[in-house]
Amino acid sequence: MQRSDLMEKVVSLCKRRGFIFQSSEIYGGLASAWDYGPLGVELKRNVKSSWWKAVVHDRDDVVGLDASILMHPKVWQASGHAENFHDDLVDCRVCKKRFRADHLENRDCKTKDKCDFTTARAFNLMFKTHLGAVEDEASVTYLRPETAQGIFANFRNVLDSTHKKLPFGIAQIGKSFRNEITPGNYTFRTREFEQMEIEYFTKPEHADECYQQWINQRFQWYLKLGIQEKHLRIRRHGDDELAHYAKGCSDIEYEFPFGWSELEGIANRTDFDLKQHAKFSGVDLQYNDQVEQKKYFPYVIEPSGGVDRATLAFLVDAYHEEEVQERTRVVLKLNHQLAPIKVAVLPLLKKNSEIVEMSKKIKNRLQKKCVCVYDDSAAIGKLYRRQDEIGTMYCVTVDVDSLQDQQITVRERDTMKQERISADQLENYLTEKLTNDSSILN
Ligand code: GAP
Repeated sequence: MQRSDLMEKVVSLCKRRGFIFQSSEIYGGLASAWDYGPLGVELKRNVKSSWWKAVVHDRDDVVGLDASILMHPKVWQASGHAENFHDDLVDCRVCKKRFRADHLENRDCKTKDKCDFTTARAFNLMFKTHLGAVEDEASVTYLRPETAQGIFANFRNVLDSTHKKLPFGIAQIGKSFRNEITPGNYTFRTREFEQMEIEYFTKPEHADECYQQWINQRFQWYLKLGIQEKHLRIRRHGDDELAHYAKGCSDIEYEFPFGWSELEGIANRTDFDLKQHAKFSGVDLQYNDQVEQKKYFPYVIEPSGGVDRATLAFLVDAYHEEEVQERTRVVLKLNHQLAPIKVAVLPLLKKNSEIVEMSKKIKNRLQKKCVCVYDDSAAIGKLYRRQDEIGTMYCVTVDVDSLQDQQITVRERDTMKQERISADQLENYLTEKLTNDSSILN
């Protein structure tokens, strides 16, 4: 399989098996907006919980937050988004389309060399809305273009309620909105998307070291969850690329079928945001360092990733086609933490009521421990293929012999190896095999 064909295959699988659907499809679809179906929502939840576990629960120095999407309009003045968060746009007088001035070379336009562009104009990417019934200037606010500002605005609240000492971080997962001019590449660039962000507050003199540590830790997270190393790289931003608030920034990039593209950015935001919010709100946002007996604004290191982009990268990287007994086997080799379904219980004969009963009993027992399904809607070969295609880690089969010897067959997804084990040992077996740590079965 060519890597260039991969995107089409993943998109087709996602639609066919219920990972991702076009938004408002029954009305002809809404461009660049996507809905996560029954399996997609499980996968995305697993991506988010793996992130939350790694950056909040497994550490002592990071706490969580869930701030509202709508914030006081002054937030966007203080953050600089009202003034600086724009793309330069040009209109073509011939094809009547609008393009980002920095994306003209690869523009999607049939008249290509005949295009006649206007001069570039700044276009703010924030979605404007009005609070309440009256649509005047006083009621204007914006859908947040990043979750980060909810964290800065709550810095004092978190500090006062948790008594955290530097260095410490605040993590948040949530929706953000940007009126992107050129969304595309499936779920890669959309106008509504989810971010996973950490604002890690540190002493200014420790910021550079902390920045390096976060780059390494975040890179390892993608590797641990199964992304192949050859498809990942770190790209440092040139000075001319830096956002208005950043002293340094590095992107973790994935080699998508459409090219190397950003999964996550790790930025040194200095003390820009806290200083700005202190100035615009009049609230003292300095850290009172009792050891050094002085007050100062901490520096901020910000690892900021996209849930949708990470999910897409995990899907693309997991997609495999293998020739098995003269058939093409499609298998999603997702990491066990991410696989939407851990176990499928499959009766070999659906007409044998005792086999069905034993299978359902096993499924009901397992369901209390992990996400599992029961399926008897086809012959066993087809059932295996269906589960491989969605990344199910183990298939458990109950057959006529199981009724006598209380043994079942467990088939592993990647190797297709089958083992016969005692039915009452299944939980122990899976706990050991799936994780080597029992938390996955909690
Ligand atoms: N707070 C910093 C910040 O928002 P960013 O590089 O603009 O930085 C961070 O965004 C991450 O959010 C990106 O690395 C990407 O994963 C995700 N992201 C940004 N814009 C996106 C879009 N239009 N569609 C999907 N994901 C997006």
